[in-house]
Amino acid sequence: MKPPSRPSKASPKKKRSAVGPKSPLPVKIEMVKLSGGARPHPALGLGLWASGRWTNEDEARTKATIGRAYERGMRWFDTAEVYGNGRSERVLGEVLARAPGTAPDAYVVTKVSWEHLRANQVRASLIGSLERLARRSADLYLVHAPDAHVPLSETMGALEALWKEGKVGAIGVSNFSVEELEEAARHLSEAKIVVNQLRYNLFLRDDVDPVREYCRAHNILIEAYTPLARGLLHGRYLDGTKVPKEVRQFANRLFEPDMLPQILARGRALRDLANDAGVPLASIGLHWLRKMGTVPVFGASRPEQIDSNLAAWAVRPPDRVLDRADRIARGDRA
Ligand SMILES: NC(=O)c1ccc[n+]([C@@H]2O[C@H](COP(=O)([O-])OP(=O)(O)OC[C@H]3O[C@@H](n4cnc5c(N)ncnc54)[C@H](OP(=O)(O)O)[C@@H]3O)[C@@H](O)[C@H]2O)c1
Repeated sequence: MKPPSRPSKASPKKKRSAVGPKSPLPVKIEMVKLSGGARPHPALGLGLWASGRWTNEDEARTKATIGRAYERGMRWFDTAEVYGNGRSERVLGEVLARAPGTAPDAYVVTKVSWEHLRANQVRASLIGSLERLARRSADLYLVHAPDAHVPLSETMGALEALWKEGKVGAIGVSNFSVEELEEAARHLSEAKIVVNQLRYNLFLRDDVDPVREYCRAHNILIEAYTPLARGLLHGRYLDGTKVPKEVRQFANRLFEPDMLPQILARGRALRDLANDAGVPLASIGLHWLRKMGTVPVFGASRPEQIDSNLAAWAVRPPDRVLDRADRIARGDRA
């Protein structure tokens, strides 16, 4: 039987705000309905992949970044057991524990690693994640990526049992193809797959995308990761700044030599469009994703980036601008 949908509860901890009183005002972020009666999902999220990669010295800045996001009204936080080997989850747990009211309204998403998809591993992974997050449940638990060597029957069965126990509010997947989505759904009896988290932005998408079509037809919300194309959709690198190796490495094909010149040319055309329309470039990147029915989860490494991304979110460019951006990013000259 489906457990009552409820927000995850944080363990009681000391209450102290993570950032000072001078943050700008909170921004309104709409909630999106999920299928199967799951708790509604915020339309914009902060991803904490980088939080696990940083050195100890960066931890205070990471915490301030998460704290700023919370203070500014962000509630969806995306992490994973593999991010920094659990460090990202721990840092998030520590910040939320200090937020006002121990952040009962945070929407916490974490993921089981593709290396832990056996039934007993899934349960152990979630328990480890919840301990690090200092929460009794995760609002949404995703399979980070499929593993061809582990049958999805095993993984989905274990996830459904955790859902029935109320340890996860909803079940989702990430980086799944249509075939994998179909196979996973076959092994759930009462629960539904409510989310597929995918790399998706103005530059990295196909016009005809069977996964997107499948998700739309089956009420599976797409969480769009790398929505800012690693800063390109903030204007970064457009004037010839060298792309750091780490960014190149983790940005799929965007920065490869055969792609980069055309991406930069399109990025500059998008920047001109944004200037003409009087909107930030990132507003176009984020709201184009929203117009496509997805919800973006951006990364940020410092509090100012939260402010700048929320300022971009607060401006919804007109449809004609988003449609033109779509054509420019596709490479149409029209
Ligand atoms: N499911 C998966 O397999 C998967 C894979 C990848 C990511 N994700 C999730 O998606 C999240 C976002 O992915 P992403 O980091 O690739 O996305 P992104 O939002 O496209 O890129 C984030 C980077 O853009 C730069 N940036 C952000 N705000 C900026 C601003 N205002 N001005 C200038 N630069 C800015 C920052 O780079 P600097 O830090 O260099 O300043 C930041 O780290 C991850 O944190 C993770 O939670 C999931």
